[in-house]
Amino acid sequence: MEKLKKKYKIQLKRFAEQKEQIRRLWNIGEKTAMLLYFFAITKRAKNILEIGTSNGYSTFWLSLAAEVTESEIDTIEVDESRYLLACENLKERKNVNIHFGLAEKIIPSLDKKFDLVFIDAGKIDYINYIKLLLDKLENNALIIADNVISHRETVHEYLSFVRNSPDFFTFTLPVESGLEISVYKK
Ligand SMILES: C[S@@+](CC[C@H](N)C(=O)[O-])C[C@H]1O[C@@H](n2cnc3c(N)ncnc32)[C@H](O)[C@@H]1O
Repeated sequence: MEKLKKKYKIQLKRFAEQKEQIRRLWNIGEKTAMLLYFFAITKRAKNILEIGTSNGYSTFWLSLAAEVTESEIDTIEVDESRYLLACENLKERKNVNIHFGLAEKIIPSLDKKFDLVFIDAGKIDYINYIKLLLDKLENNALIIADNVISHRETVHEYLSFVRNSPDFFTFTLPVESGLEISVYKK
């Protein structure tokens, strides 16, 4: 990872500066970013979906992984100023499609099946996203949901859904805000 951090020093410095200067970007931490990168590469995910782009920090790491596996990322952001920042920050990343709007409206319009999904938007709505996603998931799709420890109460419907559904294998990875890692089995 040090090699990547060196190669993309300018872009990562820009993300670090924005995090300092702009309130409410809520970017994932570095360990979560590394994990996303490794999961995307080892899974060899072809179609990746991210719900909650913010200014594009997590998208950037997914995009680096997608470059290795020749994959594509769709990412969704509802806040206009963060969406515009992400467009600027990611303008050189050829494998990223940024969608502006409510995930609940955009997910049904995506004509693809995903094999990796990163959920990091409105916590109370995780349950709605996963239900909308059910017919958009490849068999063995990996779903990574952030903040399941930091916002345990708010995401409890989501957790109970993936933990009790026969279609998911799931566990909590206690890294940073807490990641729920689930595999979808049709
Ligand atoms: C935690 S931040 C995402 C951080 C980003 N993944 C990163 O690590 O750089 C959550 C983002 O989700 C967006 N969001 C919240 N609810 C949403 C929804 N229903 N549809 C799309 N975006 C949403 C918020 O505007 C916010 O920018």
